[in-house]
Amino acid sequence: MKRELSKNFEDIYGKGGEVRLFYAPGRVNLIGEHTDYNGGHVFPCGLNMGTYLAVRKREDDLLCFYSKNKEELGIITSSLKDLSYSEGADWTNYPKGVIWTLKERGYALPCGLEVFVYGNIPNGSGLSSSASLEVVTGLALRELYGFHELSMVDLALIGQYSENHYNGCNCGIMDQFAVAMAKKDFALFLNTNNLSYQQVPVNLPGFQIVITNSKVKHALVDSAYNERRAQCEEALKDLQSVAAIDSLGDLDEDSFERYQEAIKNPVCAKRARHAVYENQRAVKAVQALTEGNLVAFGKLMNESHRSLRDDYQVSCPEVDFLAEQAWENPAVLGSRITGGGFGGCTVSIVKEEGVKEFVWEIGRKYQEKLGLQAEFYIAKTDGGARELTE
Ligand code: GLA
Repeated sequence: MKRELSKNFEDIYGKGGEVRLFYAPGRVNLIGEHTDYNGGHVFPCGLNMGTYLAVRKREDDLLCFYSKNKEELGIITSSLKDLSYSEGADWTNYPKGVIWTLKERGYALPCGLEVFVYGNIPNGSGLSSSASLEVVTGLALRELYGFHELSMVDLALIGQYSENHYNGCNCGIMDQFAVAMAKKDFALFLNTNNLSYQQVPVNLPGFQIVITNSKVKHALVDSAYNERRAQCEEALKDLQSVAAIDSLGDLDEDSFERYQEAIKNPVCAKRARHAVYENQRAVKAVQALTEGNLVAFGKLMNESHRSLRDDYQVSCPEVDFLAEQAWENPAVLGSRITGGGFGGCTVSIVKEEGVKEFVWEIGRKYQEKLGLQAEFYIAKTDGGARELTE
């Protein structure tokens, strides 16, 4: 991959100078969905799909970006003198957003650069292709320009900030944090209230993590996402009139039931219910996994899906169909929608010897019922963003 990447870079930009190579994975969230902006817990792991980035400094102010995934766009250029967001900048608004955020924080780039990107995370699938691109960019810039006081957690926060304030999605910290901090064979049990975390072994003897891509991506995902977040904030405000809490993550199921009448808008109450119960499910699921109780882990995944479907309403018929089919398969311990929602993927825990049948059967039924071709990935965990050296 390294040699190919260097060659690709030179084919686009020409030989000479030092070209450095970086990589950041995607992530799949096992449980704890839409809890990360509610002070709750999440449980993602790094994936064996990710974003490669080759980069070289320039002597002038130009920023040049090229993506092998969007060859038709050619080299997209902008300048350090004008870092504003623009529609025409297309995908380069992600790396530009990181450059812009760094500048806001006192890390202005002294000179421009040439960037070549290639990624194999399917876009819009809920596997964090954008966070992967943001974090790999942050890491490359830190290394290239010597911003060594920035930690990997700082790079995650910079990625999130740029997504919130530059690219307009009011996302939480889960994706960037997972992409920056993931560890092979582990999942990150992250408390988003204070960013304390634990690396928990993903010990699934005899089982595999299978991701099923519905290939569906509904329009207006960002605005629907931002709306969910606003609804949770409204519920929190109402709850604060009766309970001394800072976030929905401060409530357990009992206290939520006790106080929920304070939430005036019934839609906001449903959203808050999900956030509270999902947070508790994430905590219980990690406990179950640690104890080797995979059946309990799977059940919690199924409950998570139902809650995302009914209370949080971020699923869609296509993804529901995939999850519901998985539930009927005897080789499946649990299955749920993963990521932001409104399309994207399910994540399922499937008995090793049943994986082939799972893929064949669900693929066939999905095609028959919805006329769509699902894609399946056997997920392997991977480490976080890094430089690719010898
Ligand atoms: C998206 C966001 C995350 C998180 C998930 C839902 O992936 O980027 O911050 O909120 O949705 O769990």
